[in-house]
Amino acid sequence: MSLELNRIHCGDSAIMLRLIEKESVALSVWSPPYFVGKEYEKHLTYEGWLLMLQEVIQLHTQLLKPGGFMVINIADILCFPDDNLPRFQAENLRRRRSDITQEMVLEAKAKFPHYNRNRLAKYLGCSEQTIDRRLNGNNVRGGKYSTQTRVHLVGGLIENFAYEAGLFLYDRRIWVKDAAWENSRWTSLSYRAVDEFEYLYFFWKPGATIVDKSRLSPQEWTDWGSRAVWNFASVRANNDHEAKFPIELPRRAIRMLTTPGEIVLDPFMGSGTTALAAIELEREYVGIELQAHYAQMANLACEKAKARRSLLTETLNGHVVTNGHSSTAVEQLTLVATD
Ligand SMILES: C[S@@+](CC[C@H](N)C(=O)[O-])C[C@H]1O[C@@H](n2cnc3c(N)ncnc32)[C@H](O)[C@@H]1O
Repeated sequence: MSLELNRIHCGDSAIMLRLIEKESVALSVWSPPYFVGKEYEKHLTYEGWLLMLQEVIQLHTQLLKPGGFMVINIADILCFPDDNLPRFQAENLRRRRSDITQEMVLEAKAKFPHYNRNRLAKYLGCSEQTIDRRLNGNNVRGGKYSTQTRVHLVGGLIENFAYEAGLFLYDRRIWVKDAAWENSRWTSLSYRAVDEFEYLYFFWKPGATIVDKSRLSPQEWTDWGSRAVWNFASVRANNDHEAKFPIELPRRAIRMLTTPGEIVLDPFMGSGTTALAAIELEREYVGIELQAHYAQMANLACEKAKARRSLLTETLNGHVVTNGHSSTAVEQLTLVATD
């Protein structure tokens, strides 16, 4: 049995990918869980996450066409908890609003051993919180006793899994996304940069690969096809899925690395973005998604996109009247592309 094309199937990729026809997929483009605590990855331990990535990558060896590509979009883990990490952050002096020092509190406590926190605060002319802080240490960056975090690079892990599976790192690019200031209040308490880029790793399965420069216009090659840094905005409305990538991401990979009619795979399909790009670009697609409600949502979005596509095809040489407004085929295509 092989998985039906042009559908998003609900299940675990580590199992379902075995059902894809061998050497059928021209491009697999995906973004897995990043192990950063999203709702849909809460069930995973670090070891389980690594194992899942390893298995999914390994399964690509058989399902990719010779000469085909696997493009992985992923980021480093910026707050990786590590019990072995010594406490880094010292007391933040700029944040200290009271001149009362720990020595002054200890001295007062020694002088009036029967005073509680409230009376000590009154005696020293400060808040009870200040007394608490001076006696118990500042509650900075997740608290005195919480595990410290460090940056953990992910690219090398993926490269090794792919290499072991016979897939070779062909290229790597950076996607510059919107700076996530709102998720990074802690940057005011550290020297770390705000989170504003992710990676795209292009892996190649040995075999004949057509390098067809006519797939993009000369201007597109100059603007992004030959550029290592890609700039486009993140998805603003993440109300139906926590971690969608923008359609421009799979769109670029599909346009560069496949021809119409070829099969595009996404084993972590989420809301269906890769499938929507494939429909827009007249490629076949197949997807896998663990969560039933996401798979259902993605299939629904694809059916709507296909309906719009058919409408477009029917009216390609003419004009169509939509909601009382006349629009050209090109305008209709834009509707498909941005939804
Ligand atoms: C980063 S999101 C992908 C979002 C997608 N690119 C989009 O634009 O909507 C990762 C997705 O993988 C799904 N997932 C997690 N583990 C999975 C597994 N073992 N097999 C299939 N899907 C999985 C999650 O439910 C989540 O929807």
